[in-house]
Amino acid sequence: MDKIQIRGGKPLSGSIVIGGSKNAALPVMCASLLSDEPLILGNVPHLADITTMANLLNQHGVQVSLEGQDDKDGHIGRVLSLHAKDITNTTAPYDLVRKMRASVLVLGPLLARAGEAEVSLPGGCAIGTRPVDLHLHGLAQLGAQVSVDSGYIHATAPKGLIGAHIVFPKVSVGATENLLLAAVLADGETVLENVAREPEINDLVACLAAMGAEIDGVGTATLTVRGVERLHGARHDIMPDRIETGTYAMAAAITGGTIELVGARLGDIEAAVERLRQAGITIEKKNGGILVDRANGNLIGVDAETEPYPGFPTDLQAQFISLMSAADGTSVVTETIFENRFMHVPELQRMGADITLHGGSAIVRGVPKLTGAPVMASDLRASASLVLAGLVAEGETVVRRIYHLDRGYERLEEKLAGVGADIERVKDVA
Ligand code: EPZ
Repeated sequence: MDKIQIRGGKPLSGSIVIGGSKNAALPVMCASLLSDEPLILGNVPHLADITTMANLLNQHGVQVSLEGQDDKDGHIGRVLSLHAKDITNTTAPYDLVRKMRASVLVLGPLLARAGEAEVSLPGGCAIGTRPVDLHLHGLAQLGAQVSVDSGYIHATAPKGLIGAHIVFPKVSVGATENLLLAAVLADGETVLENVAREPEINDLVACLAAMGAEIDGVGTATLTVRGVERLHGARHDIMPDRIETGTYAMAAAITGGTIELVGARLGDIEAAVERLRQAGITIEKKNGGILVDRANGNLIGVDAETEPYPGFPTDLQAQFISLMSAADGTSVVTETIFENRFMHVPELQRMGADITLHGGSAIVRGVPKLTGAPVMASDLRASASLVLAGLVAEGETVVRRIYHLDRGYERLEEKLAGVGADIERVKDVA
């Protein structure tokens, strides 16, 4: 197993190219199940979760091949071809689903195309219980017979799915995606109310539309889908990763550096950008990307509360707590999406951070200096927060269990080393 070693204290300077979005790519890959023609996806990031999804789709009968790479403004994205000529197997087994919860997104498209699906229940994870009840209720409203037995979701719709009016009682990114992936082939019109409005949903809608789906209301809380009989092949480029963007913006900020984020979209992370500006960081559009600058001036403590889009993203909460740990003053960071997403806090405390947890809020009192320490990653974004703290801490920080990082950040240590960080990946012999 590898670990990451960081010697902190170097202000970052230079440019980082932002890759394709993991959380957009995963549902878009599942769209390939809906057509017997190839779906060609550009700007696909090279990440462990993408490989897991490719393996899952492959065992359903999807031929997955690497078509090459495209080079846009110096950014090398992968081009994947996903061809579901025939669905040969409608079961998503526990061994693959337990590796990645997004596997549950095959449920809707398998049901729509093949009329049946058996998908292992994902179970809880490090950040919360994360049920899938909204996915299952929605699919049942589209006329599927859904039951849960022996750890598996069994769903059938032998005569096909039928359009319905579905009001989500709670905003869910995954449930919105699963229902979209099912409704596009349902008979008649489906109205989805109180949907998630994350930019990744818009990316999925754009891909489905390119395949011939009819969807109105993109970017709003209500999506209307007119089901079509079949979808065709298409080419779609995955959007830039807004969480990678936010993470590197905070890396520049925490080290007092200046970084250009090539290919990043400011409009996708406006709530986070607003908080960063209040904290004393200059962020502006530059050359079609973003320039982040904190070369002069102190970091100021500001409050943040996670919310569904367009609010402050939960996937940047851990990184923001690291940033606030190095700021002047106190900030209150409140998590409202997941009930257990503060696993990074005890590790940051070991690095000298002054944080008190109070229910769903972290009270972060900025300290003049963080100190390097051996720390343990618990989930993807928590790992990133430990790396950020390590970049500014005095002495050496060693982050273990970095397989979490490899799920969602492509070549993180290379990208950070390229802008002057003293960081390396080494084999962990311990
Ligand atoms: C997506 O997860 C992302 N994953 C997460 O990113 C992200 O944190 C999350 O959305 C929120 O933005 C992917 O896109 C692959 P939800 P998802 O359904 O879809 C509850 C990362 O680090 N809920 O929007 O699973 C749920 O427990 C990951 O990249 C139900 O109660 O999130 C949570 O409290 C981590 N019942 C809330 O809704 C359901 O059926 C929002 O979850 C579904 C969800």
